[in-house]
Amino acid sequence: MTTTELVNYKVADLSLAAEGRLLIDWAESRMPVLMALREKFEKTKPLAGQRIAGCLHVTKETAVLIRTLRAAGAEIAWSGCNPLSTNDAVAAALAEEGIQMYAWYGQDTEGFYWSIDKCIEFGPTLTLDDGADLIFRVHFQFPEVAETVFGGSEETTTGVHRLRAMAADGKLKYPVIAVNDAETKWDFDNVYGTGQSSLDGILRATSVLLAGKNFVVAGYGHCGKGCALRAKGMGANVIATEVKPTSALKATLEGVRVMTMDEAAKEGDVFITATGMKDIIVGRHFESMKDGAIVCNTGHYDCELNLEELNAMTVSRREIRDNCIEYTQKDGRRIYVLAEGRLVNLAAAEGHPSEVMDMSFANQFQAMMMLAEKAETMGQGVHVLPEELDQEIAGIKLASMGIDIDELTDEQVAYATDYSQGT
Ligand code: ADE
Repeated sequence: MTTTELVNYKVADLSLAAEGRLLIDWAESRMPVLMALREKFEKTKPLAGQRIAGCLHVTKETAVLIRTLRAAGAEIAWSGCNPLSTNDAVAAALAEEGIQMYAWYGQDTEGFYWSIDKCIEFGPTLTLDDGADLIFRVHFQFPEVAETVFGGSEETTTGVHRLRAMAADGKLKYPVIAVNDAETKWDFDNVYGTGQSSLDGILRATSVLLAGKNFVVAGYGHCGKGCALRAKGMGANVIATEVKPTSALKATLEGVRVMTMDEAAKEGDVFITATGMKDIIVGRHFESMKDGAIVCNTGHYDCELNLEELNAMTVSRREIRDNCIEYTQKDGRRIYVLAEGRLVNLAAAEGHPSEVMDMSFANQFQAMMMLAEKAETMGQGVHVLPEELDQEIAGIKLASMGIDIDELTDEQVAYATDYSQGT
């Protein structure tokens, strides 16, 4: 890899910029909500004076968010939030457009944190995270910077959980908006986005037939459910593993077989983890898998598959296809691990489709607007976006799809709150 390093960016190869611009054009044509926000705010520039440091997958969809934040007046520095999720062409296009971009595909740990630190050096007034690495680093490695940041936002379930724990311990120094918790984010991105993009990653890395396979989903939260739905739609026999009784019950009533991972390990042909928890598939599970089992993860961190234990049991390893490593065992069984156990949807495919990121990133944009307007009065802690915003975002999305819906009459509105009449 040739990296191009200048004062204010570091990307893999600037000559990929033209390819990146085409990808971004494609995404823009499918992100009508974000484009409407851009049009609305590019004249008044309500984010003028804000310095936004972002730490979120550098994809064509993220580029549309970055351009929109910039059109609204913000200055921006950006790093990826996963070593294997950066689209180098998109990163090059953004660097060429003057964004302080520090991201390339295949970063090592040092490069990953160096990139985040460059964004901290930029002196942000606002932080925008996916997985909370930037916020953690600001708080624990650069606490003096935390004093000058007004607020931040967080994209993902795992990040929000950790930030709530940090707030409960009194350690979070500024207000953070849990973008993940907006209905137009979690109910769409986590389910349909993760479902489609994870299967896309599995198929690009393996090209196997899913029909008739036993497809094991670890975790039946929104992301796991999305994967299960789509795998079922392609003819797989879906099995879920869970630790939460209500989620296990939902899976059962949705026609998904539920069992422990010890049992599922013996039955599965394809495994995907979507739990946000470590050590979901460990040595003893790999030990009992069938020859040819395919294993991957779609959770934010790469700790769900215990690859150290798999490595220790393995007699030989080879890269058999892009993002697909074959681990041969003493008894001759072959296990295939995709994308090194990192987010398979971003490492082996392109992440969630633009249509769904449109709503997630409209929420990110609105979070930045809200913080720019009133972070100082919000108080430290984790906040959510107002519910009306969800309806507004969903309304624009529906309009862009040419779908009309009904409206309540005045009489119906009155009826909804009338407690003087029963049956
Ligand atoms: N997370 C999941 N899919 C994504 C995408 N396409 N862009 C940015 N972040 C994502």
